[in-house]
Amino acid sequence: MIEITGLHKSFGKNHVLKGVELSLVPPGLIAILGPNGSGKTTLIKSILGMVIPDRGEIEVDGASIKKAWEYRRQISYLPQIARFPENIRVRELIAMVKDLRGETEMDVSLISYFGLQPFLDKKLGNLSGGTRQKVNLVLCFMYDCPIVILDEPTAGLDPVSLVRLKKLIKTKREEGKLILITTHVMDLVEELAEEVVYLLEGNIHFRGTVAELKEKYQGRNVEESIAALLQKDGPFSLGAVASNGHAKVPETLLEN
Ligand SMILES: Nc1ncnc2c1ncn2[C@@H]1O[C@H](COP(=O)(O)OP(=O)(O)OP(=O)(O)O)[C@@H](O)[C@H]1O
Ligand SMILES: [Mg+2]
Repeated sequence: MIEITGLHKSFGKNHVLKGVELSLVPPGLIAILGPNGSGKTTLIKSILGMVIPDRGEIEVDGASIKKAWEYRRQISYLPQIARFPENIRVRELIAMVKDLRGETEMDVSLISYFGLQPFLDKKLGNLSGGTRQKVNLVLCFMYDCPIVILDEPTAGLDPVSLVRLKKLIKTKREEGKLILITTHVMDLVEELAEEVVYLLEGNIHFRGTVAELKEKYQGRNVEESIAALLQKDGPFSLGAVASNGHAKVPETLLEN
């Protein structure tokens, strides 16, 4: 269980999270959505202790994460941008992560599941973007953790790999895990998410099931509902639209 109360985070003058309150109880598959820069990754990194909040409290399984690290063993994490040395080989990277975790139980079947055997002796820097993402997915799912956090998991994947990933996520959900996903792929939300948490202007603007989102914003699908939400309440709301129907361009953008 993850309990977040009064979470604030600023980067300089940029007040990204403004008192976020969020309670996440397993099992569940929750999509954390919001426009670019709305703070999804910041929120996720706060849960992982990679971003230190200015104010607020985060508890995982009833204990504060402040100055704690053991709790991270409970979490499988796929970062939005994974940075590893370019000259390390896939096989070496997997062995390195295994060493770091110090756990013996790992699911090596994922290597063939994502078709990575031909790439095991290749250097990361020589892999295509999608193949790198598959390596990241293997590293994320290699250990069986009760909480799974996926930051843009579909980035760069071809359709076959996408189908496999969705199947894997569904299996993990059926096993009773708490899964958090951020994505801009609304079909994925439609297909997988039990709940949507929508971040806007530093706070949770909407939380509910996909059906409730569609009902509230009268969209035929998630995409239309989010578009309606943003038109009604977001930066594209009527107040920000010029009389010709186009979004107003901020004056500062037009200055020389
Ligand atoms: N380390 C940092 N230093 C300074 N600013 C940061 C840092 N990390 C994030 N930000 C800023 O915080 C805001 C939120 O960023 P964040 O990455 O959380 O957004 P996001 O919702 O994940 O966006 P996206 O959909 O593009 O992934 C952005 O304005 C970003 O520029
Ligand atoms: Mg992000």
